[in-house]
Amino acid sequence: MKKVLVTGGAGYIGSHTVVALVERGYHPIIVDDLRNSSLIILEGLKKLCGDGFSFLSIDICDKNILFSVFEDHGIQAVIHFAAYKSVGESCVVPLRYYQNNLIGLMNVLEACQTFNVQKFVFSSSCTVYGEPNGRQVFENTPKHLPESPYGFTKWMGEQILEDLHRNTQPFNTLCLRYFNPIGAHPSGLIGELPVGIPNNLLPYITQTAAGIREYLTVFGNDYPTPDGTCIRDYIHVCDVAEAHVCALQHEGYVPLDVFNIGTGKGTSVLEMVETFNVVSGRELPYKLGDRRPGDITEIFANVEKSEAELGWKAQRTVEEALRDAWNWEQQLKQHD
Ligand code: UFG
Repeated sequence: MKKVLVTGGAGYIGSHTVVALVERGYHPIIVDDLRNSSLIILEGLKKLCGDGFSFLSIDICDKNILFSVFEDHGIQAVIHFAAYKSVGESCVVPLRYYQNNLIGLMNVLEACQTFNVQKFVFSSSCTVYGEPNGRQVFENTPKHLPESPYGFTKWMGEQILEDLHRNTQPFNTLCLRYFNPIGAHPSGLIGELPVGIPNNLLPYITQTAAGIREYLTVFGNDYPTPDGTCIRDYIHVCDVAEAHVCALQHEGYVPLDVFNIGTGKGTSVLEMVETFNVVSGRELPYKLGDRRPGDITEIFANVEKSEAELGWKAQRTVEEALRDAWNWEQQLKQHD
């Protein structure tokens, strides 16, 4: 199973996964229309992987073109990343999110059925837990309704997969529920490329340190946590990438299974700022602000199942992730 189709392979998690796949002897075939990525990432991939991958600039919402890729390349496994991912934007243009994320997914699934693909890995999110009852979530923690159309596209994506498996046994499917991926490849050749003003904490921190933003606003310091700020499970993107290799190597036929991809450890927003100051040697300017609507107080993964059944465990620390994110931000200046 060497040829793997990676939809959205030029995106943030997708590009790091392509590197991990090439390192393990796979040949990823990236399909990506670069709507939310850039040639900078493809150049970085070329430097890291040489000819170890192929790139096709196509929109997976175009079913005919997508089917021709399956026809031409003898695809046996698919890792499906391609999707819009901004929580805030999805509230403004929900139809664009439902159209792109769900039609894209259904086209890929139809192609997998038609061309007898053996394995399908779906990019899901801890957003499917909604506001959990406990702080730590297990894979069988009841799902709650997400807070945004983006979250619903992941929630519905999992539902579509469940329904598909109810009456048929189409292909081995693994849903990976990512917690908060951060960081970049240690080479500084690929990393996160937010479009416009970042919504997520890490790119906001690094852009503030680089002088692009004036200061970070910490969204709320009156939460019931030790320092009053929200707690998340931040995980190095290279660890997330390696989880996909383990998903492909996962033995035996599992009709449909779900895995938490986190570290099992929660970190608060202020702890992230303090750690960033230590690794960067800077003093990040920040202000305490109001809570952001829709934010949950605290969530982190239980990762026992991923360790036991997927044979995967996060190896890198938050410090390493912050160091690599800062390195990437500094490299990006060279492309201005
Ligand atoms: N935060 C700030 N200031 C900022 C940005 C973020 O204080 O400028 C805080 C947020 O309030 C939150 C934490 O930093 O407490 C993390 O926020 P992110 O936006 O980086 O991440 P979220 O946990 O809100 O969102 C992530 C993914 C989503 C996914 C969601 C599931 O980005 O794709 O987890 O909970 F849907």
